[in-house]
Amino acid sequence: MDCGSVFGSLVQAPEDPILGVTVAYNKDPSPDKLNLGVGAYRTEEGKPLVLNVVRQAEQLLVNDQSRVKEYLPIVGLADFNKLSAKLIFGADSPAIQENRVATVQCLSGTGSLRVGAEFLARHYHQLAIYIPQPTWGNHPKVFTLAGLSVKTYRYYDPATRGLNFQGLLEDLGAAPSGAIVLLHACAHNPTGVDPTLEQWEQIRQLMRSKGLLPFFDSAYQGFASGSLDADAQSVRMFVADGGECLVAQSYAKNMGLYGERVGALSIVCKTADVARKVESQLKLVIRPMYSNPPIHGASIVATILKDSKMYDEWTVELKAMADRIISMREQLFVALSARGFLLIPLSLIFYSLVLVLAFKILSKDISISYLTGTPGDWSHIIKQIGMFTFTGLNSEQVAFMTKEYHIYMTSDGRISMAGLSSKTVPHLADAIHAAVTRMG
Ligand SMILES: Cc1ncc(COP(=O)(O)O)c(C=O)c1O
Repeated sequence: MDCGSVFGSLVQAPEDPILGVTVAYNKDPSPDKLNLGVGAYRTEEGKPLVLNVVRQAEQLLVNDQSRVKEYLPIVGLADFNKLSAKLIFGADSPAIQENRVATVQCLSGTGSLRVGAEFLARHYHQLAIYIPQPTWGNHPKVFTLAGLSVKTYRYYDPATRGLNFQGLLEDLGAAPSGAIVLLHACAHNPTGVDPTLEQWEQIRQLMRSKGLLPFFDSAYQGFASGSLDADAQSVRMFVADGGECLVAQSYAKNMGLYGERVGALSIVCKTADVARKVESQLKLVIRPMYSNPPIHGASIVATILKDSKMYDEWTVELKAMADRIISMREQLFVALSARGFLLIPLSLIFYSLVLVLAFKILSKDISISYLTGTPGDWSHIIKQIGMFTFTGLNSEQVAFMTKEYHIYMTSDGRISMAGLSSKTVPHLADAIHAAVTRMG
């Protein structure tokens, strides 16, 4: 219809598949509603969390009258860049000591991926980028819009709800020499399935032998295991061999700085001279995009990372977040295992048994599908890692849970464990039990 607007012919664009979940959740008047869509940490009370150490850093910044609001350089805050590289590559990284790393402050993880992709599209000889199947929904859009050509490699095996390692090796083995490969550094989103260290080593050997260029997305350092070093091991393995790679870092999750949009892109090069040239070209990518990055979030991060006491406090708070998520996994697994057992005394005995078995599964990797109350094997809930569980629920079951139980999640069955609490676990377990038993 002609309404007189020069934009009158536009069609309504669909909501973002992840952020749209929150839009639908906000419209639901039910008091029982539960948002497990967006990957943002919540406390046991279901509230967003600002870390104490972040509050302290902000207080220091506010009290420092010498601070001004001038523009940052195009590459961002120098201290922030140095400390971010140290955090991901390790304090004793030869690449840092040899000045072979070009680091630029970007707009969180997404901005870092985009700047990296724009740089590659301009300056790298191979435009094909291989992303895991499945992956975070924004990856294909970011890379395509930057001018790269997106291909996929097999990653997840629905049958085992684990890694399709053979498929991954075959697909990367068949990729053209020099192709870019997007790797989730840890806590793969959406599956929660990571390669073991031995598997990472095989991936590294294969990629180096074919000259494939690793582009790591590190959105969850410290969130997967609770240890910043353990969660950086995949990246460090690739840097230790002296080869080149890109890393996009985000402080959204591990420092809870979601809205501050603070992250970094590092490009590890063969020599200091190349790193200097790379940095000069990164500036040409950034300047016409957003000129220079915002100062506040980077100042918070730098304040925390350069003070050993604040750094230690951060690691404690980070571990507490990771541990709460791990505990939600255990509670959901136990609750699903107990569904269908009506006699309370029996259930109590069953609960203790399941707890013991849960630990056995975690340590020995045995399957106990035949014992669970809700049909199916739910041990992947405790085997997967990081913020998300890829439940294996299909889109009909998800729609059923939203309609009947007011539980919101992405249609691929991914749930954010960080959005759960001890209070809401039974409601979710009831919903999953009903979805599985009624919707097949
Ligand atoms: C795998 C992955 N990469 C990157 C991001 C980017 O997050 P942000 O731009 O908020 O740092 C996310 C956020 O959910 C993610 O899950």
